[in-house]
Amino acid sequence: MKEYHLKDFSIYIGNDVFELLLENLIAESYSQVFVLVDENTEKYCLPMLNKYLFNTNIIKIKSGEVNKTLDTAQHIWNELQKMNADKKSVLINLGGGVIGDIGGFCAATFKRGLDFINIPTTLLSMVDSSIGGKLGVDFNGVKNAVGIIQQPHAIYINPDFLNSLPKDEIVNGYAEIIKHALIADVDYWDKLSRTGLDEWQKMGAIINSSVKIKLQIIKKDPTEKSTRKLLNFGHTIGHAIEAYSLKHDKKPLKHGEAVAIGMICEGFLSKEILGFSTKDLRMLSEYILRFFPKYSLKTILSPELIKLMRQDKKNQLDEINFTLLKRIGKASIDHVCGEHQISMALNYYDSL
Ligand SMILES: NC(=O)c1ccc[n+]([C@@H]2O[C@H](COP(=O)([O-])OP(=O)(O)OC[C@H]3O[C@@H](n4cnc5c(N)ncnc54)[C@H](O)[C@@H]3O)[C@@H](O)[C@H]2O)c1
Ligand SMILES: [Zn+2]
Repeated sequence: MKEYHLKDFSIYIGNDVFELLLENLIAESYSQVFVLVDENTEKYCLPMLNKYLFNTNIIKIKSGEVNKTLDTAQHIWNELQKMNADKKSVLINLGGGVIGDIGGFCAATFKRGLDFINIPTTLLSMVDSSIGGKLGVDFNGVKNAVGIIQQPHAIYINPDFLNSLPKDEIVNGYAEIIKHALIADVDYWDKLSRTGLDEWQKMGAIINSSVKIKLQIIKKDPTEKSTRKLLNFGHTIGHAIEAYSLKHDKKPLKHGEAVAIGMICEGFLSKEILGFSTKDLRMLSEYILRFFPKYSLKTILSPELIKLMRQDKKNQLDEINFTLLKRIGKASIDHVCGEHQISMALNYYDSL
């Protein structure tokens, strides 16, 4: 088992983490233990957890980004109230990023804050969303428009949960892993580009490398005043495309799929603005397209996408802010790009 201890919380990684979870729950003498699940994590993940926990109260929500809403939050608060959750209760978020974001938000706001624990069950949530304390819901079609930053009490990552995760969800999480390498670690990038996802069952080492990168960054800047913005590479355009797709597509893009497109577009902006090399842009684009099928942006080179970028929390006034790459393994924050440059970046993606 790998362990990381920060000021406010600890992270445990390994397929033996639940024995420790049980010990820690007992040591905290919580009055009640609540477990938040969706229909998939109830079926595939809860049985493994139930081997270790007893007397838990289950709260169930419907899976999917479309349910990361205030209505669902209200349902969770209702359940907590109905089952008499008090300040000494704990909520365990057993699921992917949707469960973690909304469950953490509900716990952190209910009675001005219950402890919550993340047990991420998707690759994306293991390497990214469960760490860092960004919590919230989508609102009026804007991603994560309402939320707070609050760290979980602890995070227990058991890679065995990936065995039941559909392959497309593995690929979805891989986008954030690619991002970690691109922004922070050229050796990690070299390793990824040599191995790819072919050995994705052996994800333990990759999860550990990505967790370390994310932790190093949020440790320096938990509230995203500066360094933490490094993690936004691919996300200014990615979030806008994700929100657009959620509104318009029958089968909306997943977060990682949208971020993959965003990384190619923002790679192009990196070339325009920071002189990121053309050769590396080509390599990055080809690598990403190996895993993520092309999505047509032709129909959405529209003011709506720019409007969505302006609504993004990362932006102030009328400016659209980007984290860009100087080179592979080295990102740089706070670059403003104009609408024309953004359109060129979307066109570049479309031309591939
Ligand atoms: N808070 C943050 O810092 C942060 C960072 C990145 C992404 N996010 C958010 O995370 C969300 C996306 O998270 P996600 O990609 O984990 O998606 P998700 O939570 O929607 O999970 C994807 C699907 O996999 C199912 N599932 C989960 N675990 C499973 C398992 N072990 N076996 C079988 N099925 C399983 C879920 O029920 C769901 O249908 C988005 O809302 C995004 O905004 C948050
Ligand atoms: Zn992301």
